[in-house]
Amino acid sequence: MSKPMQIDSEIKIGLGEFIVSKTDTKGKITYCNEIFIKMSGYKEEELLDKPHNIVRHPDMPKAVFKLLWQRVQNREEIFAYVKNLSKDGRYYWVFANVTASVDEFGKIIGYYSVRIKPNEQAIKTISSIYSKMIELERGAGVEASMEYLNKLLDEKGVSYDEFIISLQE
Ligand SMILES: Cc1cc2nc3c(=O)[nH]c(=O)nc-3n(C[C@H](O)[C@H](O)[C@H](O)COP(=O)(O)O)c2cc1C
Repeated sequence: MSKPMQIDSEIKIGLGEFIVSKTDTKGKITYCNEIFIKMSGYKEEELLDKPHNIVRHPDMPKAVFKLLWQRVQNREEIFAYVKNLSKDGRYYWVFANVTASVDEFGKIIGYYSVRIKPNEQAIKTISSIYSKMIELERGAGVEASMEYLNKLLDEKGVSYDEFIISLQE
């Protein structure tokens, strides 16, 4: 499926709304709730069994998804601010939590994500960090982008989790 043409128009998730999806171990969507369907602009049948990058926005740095996959494949949760692209080309920001679902033997059977309305100020802070990361990814690659993020966190003296969660408070 070709990517939607981006338009500079934002859709906002309502306070108290939860955007939920589940994927298989490869990241293909196996479940999405009504709010996911509404925000993404796709029909349920266009989403199910499709890779989750169907809503990937080009303004998202690769390094963020690299970190996301590293974490969840390691059975660790991750929080992240994510800009998503809806079918009509508009975008929506979310504050996401992603976790692995495991069976009774601890084997990963899929992944689960719940997203809520992000803090407006957090989005201002994160957008400028993501822009810099994307610029670095274009020029020097994902490692340089990850290094930039780690250096920024070092300077602040906080972990990734502490930083991300503090922005939402
Ligand atoms: C449970 C789960 C939820 C995800 N949700 C999103 C999402 O909302 N938006 C997104 O762009 N990627 C999401 N991803 C990450 C995608 O699988 C993918 O790594 C990302 O879109 C980057 O795609 P690309 O590597 O093809 O560029 C999610 C992954 C998992 C496991």
